[in-house]
Amino acid sequence: MNDVAVAGAEIVTGDVPRAGEPGEAPRGAAADKAAASRSLGTTSHKLWGGRFVGGPAPALEAVNRSIAIDFRLWPFDIRLSKAWAVALWNAGVLSLDESRRIEAGLDAVAERFSAGAAPLATDEDVHTMIDRLLHAEIGDVASKLHTGRSRNDQVSTATRLWCIDACDQLDAAVRGLQHVMVRQATQHQQSLMPSYTHMQRAQPVSIAHWMLSHFWPLDRDRARLAAAARSAGVLPLGSGAVAGCAFPISRVLLKGSLGFASVSKNSIDAVADRDFVAELLFSLSLLGAHLSRLAEDLILYGSSEFGFVRFGDAYTTGSSMMPQKRNPDALELARASGARMLGDLTSLLATIKGLPSGYNKDLQEDKRALFDAVDGILLVLPAVAGTLDELTFDTARMAAAISSTMMATDLADYLVGKGITFREAHATVGAMVRKAEELGVELHALPLGTFEAAHTAFGSDVHDALAARASVDRREVEGGTGPRAVRTQLEAAVSTLAQGGEVPRGNELDLRAD
Ligand code: ARG
Repeated sequence: MNDVAVAGAEIVTGDVPRAGEPGEAPRGAAADKAAASRSLGTTSHKLWGGRFVGGPAPALEAVNRSIAIDFRLWPFDIRLSKAWAVALWNAGVLSLDESRRIEAGLDAVAERFSAGAAPLATDEDVHTMIDRLLHAEIGDVASKLHTGRSRNDQVSTATRLWCIDACDQLDAAVRGLQHVMVRQATQHQQSLMPSYTHMQRAQPVSIAHWMLSHFWPLDRDRARLAAAARSAGVLPLGSGAVAGCAFPISRVLLKGSLGFASVSKNSIDAVADRDFVAELLFSLSLLGAHLSRLAEDLILYGSSEFGFVRFGDAYTTGSSMMPQKRNPDALELARASGARMLGDLTSLLATIKGLPSGYNKDLQEDKRALFDAVDGILLVLPAVAGTLDELTFDTARMAAAISSTMMATDLADYLVGKGITFREAHATVGAMVRKAEELGVELHALPLGTFEAAHTAFGSDVHDALAARASVDRREVEGGTGPRAVRTQLEAAVSTLAQGGEVPRGNELDLRAD
């Protein structure tokens, strides 16, 4: 993780030497400072400030600073900056030597990040920090990199690249959980359990069928994540602050070198478009809701009242007071995180709703919601997968929870098979259920005579219609719980899983023609 923590006056990433501290190469502190004052005539490195006489108030700096959030964009900002250097050379703005020095400098900056370079308290955002480090590496020529671009098109480009990358990771994490589901389903094709509607026992199904009912929502989530990645794959770079770049840079070249699929059509729209963030957050909200529903099923099934599943040691916690407790914390946190994704989506939608056109600083907050949701889901998915993987099903108890009254529909179908209309059959079976209830027994416990008295169409084979296995076996319709249908379903699940994340990318071409 690239999380940065604010410690005192400075923001640090960990135990790495900072500028001016022992261990930092001499070029660090001294050179940074020199470059900063060279470029701006102040001690803090800024990408703006020429038109101001006084400096910003500390309270403004504090609220404006986004480095603690956007620090993690550095690999993408470096990538797009290198592509921008090439584009500037291609447009005749930079000489070949200048663009090469900038590219090499950016590589060196990337190495400093990889080695744990920490932001200074004066770094407003990740773009500023990279600019500062680039000046430290290559001196004044670094100042030429920002020609024709703005942080407005820059941050959107970096965020889009980050999203495309995140969608790959998310897809892999979702598939990790789906693999566990397929394994559990494969092992429990023969075992039966009650299915529920209105949280009331409804009809028997195989455990595999129930398990796979949680697989397909995740399959749809994967398709939504791929679509969100496609939405992110539109290049805003070249839009400048709002009106477009005034230098003859090739956006097609930029698109190719950064792996975008297309180029944005309108610069005003491009710098303010956060639809791709909203789409990813919506995908994560639904994914969160699906994980939450799976978690809720498992938490219920793991209760003593149900006793359908037993959780393992690795994914449960104890109580500090009650020695007997085994709590499915990972599942409860998964359930809660569904709410968090929803909050992140709501926060973004509310942020963009009232904005005038063009970039507005409100948009800086998009990353807070985006990163929170992605981080949250990436924490939850493996924890849910692990919980499910070590979970065992008490198949005897699950089968025992199927009462013969749950086959009332099969009994009505039996009468339909004897030529009775479903309405009459439904009424007849309903009356029998009432009778059984009055006697305090299940349907199968009623003697044949009672059935025969209820309807002349009932014969001696009536009790066969009340068998759970027969009920399941009859449902071989595509998508049903019949064993052959479930086998086909499992095959479909395995084959969709075999297809990797279909996050589309353009060709990441090296278009430097030298
Ligand atoms: N940190 C800013 C963000 O994330 C960068 C864009 C700043 N643009 C500006 N005109 N101040 O949105």
